[in-house]
Amino acid sequence: STAQIGVTGLAVMGRNLARNFARNGYTVAVHNRTAARTRDLVREFGGEGDFVPTESAEEFVAALERPRRLVVMVKAGAPTDAVIAEFAPLLDAGDMIIDGGNAHFADTRRREHELRERGIHFVGAGISGGEEGALNGPSIMPGGSAESYGTLGPMLERISAVAKDGRPCVVHVGPDGAGHFVKMVHNGIEYADMQLIGEAYQLLRDVGGYGPGEIADIFRAWNRGRLDSYLIEITADVLSHVDAATGRPFVDVVLDQAEQKGTGRWTVQSALDLGVPVSGIAEAVFARAVSGHSALREASRHLGGPTPRALGGDEAAAFADRVEQALYASKIVSYTQGFHQIAAASAEYGWDIDLGEVAAVWRGGCIIRAAFLDRITAAYDALPQLPSLLADKGFADEIAVAQDDWRAVVATAVTEGVPTPGFAAALAYYDSLRAPRLPAALTQGQRDYFGAHTYHRTDRDGVFHTLWGGDRTEVAG
Ligand code: 6PG
Repeated sequence: STAQIGVTGLAVMGRNLARNFARNGYTVAVHNRTAARTRDLVREFGGEGDFVPTESAEEFVAALERPRRLVVMVKAGAPTDAVIAEFAPLLDAGDMIIDGGNAHFADTRRREHELRERGIHFVGAGISGGEEGALNGPSIMPGGSAESYGTLGPMLERISAVAKDGRPCVVHVGPDGAGHFVKMVHNGIEYADMQLIGEAYQLLRDVGGYGPGEIADIFRAWNRGRLDSYLIEITADVLSHVDAATGRPFVDVVLDQAEQKGTGRWTVQSALDLGVPVSGIAEAVFARAVSGHSALREASRHLGGPTPRALGGDEAAAFADRVEQALYASKIVSYTQGFHQIAAASAEYGWDIDLGEVAAVWRGGCIIRAAFLDRITAAYDALPQLPSLLADKGFADEIAVAQDDWRAVVATAVTEGVPTPGFAAALAYYDSLRAPRLPAALTQGQRDYFGAHTYHRTDRDGVFHTLWGGDRTEVAG
């Protein structure tokens, strides 16, 4: 047994991760359900490092140094359970199974619990960065026991992306499902970022009157400022791409129905359970859902409403500047909501997650990597108990500056009939937090009226109920 690590499941992510370990000097045992893939990997990339190709589960496990470290890169759900069921009986106490897929954190908690009883460390590790990242340096979010991180951590630090300050983009997020939870919220924020960028694009197109190539240039300019991020960069690339078959902008020939594999939906489901408002992420998930209901959209084409009138010249340029403000302010809100959700889950599940560290590992390698994340790390470093990102003076000041333009953009979108659920929801969240009084008092009154659900008062402690059906006196609830 010579391999320091093994990878089973050699589809593109698994294969690239195995190559990344090998390129960094580790001997990597490789295994796949169909052995042809294993042979292909070694034939094509064997020269990159030391691979130990194996065909059976027994051979794979026997190739690993103890404690054994097995990385599982198969589809989330039943396929992951099947692989665990196959390998766990072959392992000894102290060995580790590392699940690098996009597993649901509740599955990870269950698996960790079951395997812990057998002395096996189960590490649910979120890995972001797509194929490219897996090969050249992803952002890695491992959960599981602190003990497992002791020997696994340094290996992950070798293969991960490195942030500008030289820190590897990996941290032990917390026990059991903490890593997969944080990866899930990463994906939720990814959805929100993409939706906000999409809304900015549509406004620039319909109200700004710009073509896709011009909008690509606007995004490139934004990418040199505070919005500097991977998603803005690739957006400019996608927008400037021309379809070879038709000569038309690529974005105009792609069917406008956004698909999803489920992590955004899971984020919202979890937020509902935790009672945390993640309206930006939810609107992004719903916007994809709306886009996919083609029959409903087709049947709704006749619905009345304005047709946007495109601005021109200087007015369009001024509008583009306002859209940048709206995008930035809305982005601050979606990160505020996402970090709130992580904080709430950390408290609920006893994970003790360091939010500044989470922002730090997202600075490189992952899909939402952005200059902006340095600011979030700095905010949590300055005040680890920061109750909300919006409580950070720097972010609050920036939003205060952006808000007039943000409101103007949402107002224009509403007047012109351009759907901007992300911008609007973010603004509504911001105004809800600012509001001295919310209509929730009225909601409580209604609940008390029809269901005797009781209410609290602003002026004294206690629980109260009004006899709505009787003489309307107030009694103790
Ligand atoms: C990443 C991505 C990755 C995957 C998304 C796509 O961090 O590398 O998030 O995990 O590309 O899950 O999600 P949808 O298919 O749901 O858009």
